[in-house]
Amino acid sequence: MSALPQYGKHLHPSEMMRAVVIDRYGGPEMLHEASVPRPVPTRGQVLVRTRFVGVNPKDVVVRKGKFQVATGKKFPLIIGHDIAGEVVEAGLGADLAEGDLVYGMINDFAGRAYAEYAAVDSQQLAKAPTSIELRVAAAVPLAAQTALQALRDDARVKPGQHVLINGASGGVGVFAVQIAKILGAQVTAVCSHRNVELVTELGADRVIDYTQTELVDLDERFDAIFDVFGNYRFDTLEQLLTPRGTYVHTIPSSRIFKDVARTFVRRKRAKLVIVKSRREQLDWLRQQIDAGSMRVVVDRSFPLDEAPEAHRYMETKRARGKVVLEVG
Ligand SMILES: NC(=O)c1ccc[n+]([C@@H]2O[C@H](COP(=O)([O-])OP(=O)(O)OC[C@H]3O[C@@H](n4cnc5c(N)ncnc54)[C@H](OP(=O)(O)O)[C@@H]3O)[C@@H](O)[C@H]2O)c1
Repeated sequence: MSALPQYGKHLHPSEMMRAVVIDRYGGPEMLHEASVPRPVPTRGQVLVRTRFVGVNPKDVVVRKGKFQVATGKKFPLIIGHDIAGEVVEAGLGADLAEGDLVYGMINDFAGRAYAEYAAVDSQQLAKAPTSIELRVAAAVPLAAQTALQALRDDARVKPGQHVLINGASGGVGVFAVQIAKILGAQVTAVCSHRNVELVTELGADRVIDYTQTELVDLDERFDAIFDVFGNYRFDTLEQLLTPRGTYVHTIPSSRIFKDVARTFVRRKRAKLVIVKSRREQLDWLRQQIDAGSMRVVVDRSFPLDEAPEAHRYMETKRARGKVVLEVG
């Protein structure tokens, strides 16, 4: 640790930890290792010794500084949201105990997961699934909770309904296909030809290769369209919705905010999912995983110090399922 740049130099080494930080917003090369003060859990928080971190497109967006209004200009900044590890200290009022193996997502906009330790509100965590490795559990929280909120809470998918999932092979999509099936829907999934087999194995009833078929040309109608990849607009796909159908988008923009506002009292509605980590959702996901109803697809793992490579890979937008960092 001594070779690493030090922040908070006056602290004892036992009060420091290894982290990957950025000193300013920019490209993947901005991510570097450093020795920083170890957080101290406050009321309702637990201190987690992080073993694995899930990487998400949001980490890339934060690193680039696209949400500076929310993430601020205070550096060094530790980014990242998804963690899996062990509780080593519980603050007052936290309902998880020392020794618990947990997984979850830090709700703060920038996150602070790319580090050996994180102090996290215990309600943003839950006991980790026991049927999979912690490395695999770290891939679940942000992506799977996005899919759960979009399909169960925003689109209110019911058994027998028809659901279209665009971007079915990425981090969110692989969970969306499986969650839609668990909710009892008929699932049409959209991906490129190289991922047709994977998405079929995950349970899709029909798979559309977007390199061969234009979605707007489809004759079917859907009760819910989850545009995970986010390359469509509500008006383009509105014609594919049933009269009371819901379109859920993932990427905030002035366009989608307008669509959400103007369809608020309409029967066909546009919605934007904004993921939040909640104990109830993480418990539901753990039950599905441990019951064997949901598979977690991890594409690649990188050591924490290779976070720049992990980000370069995410930025290809070709990940099959999730990317994970091993903290060690
Ligand atoms: N609002 C929220 O709360 C929230 C939460 C989570 C994620 N998001 C956003 O949701 C988006 C997706 O997240 P993610 O984690 O799933 O991303 P991801 O893992 O990077 O997605 C990669 C996948 O996208 C597919 N893809 C690439 N081009 C495509 C196209 N033209 N049409 C359909 N699929 C295509 C790729 O499949 P092929 O190789 O087969 O093309 C690949 O499997 C991101 O923009 C992310 O920021 C928002």
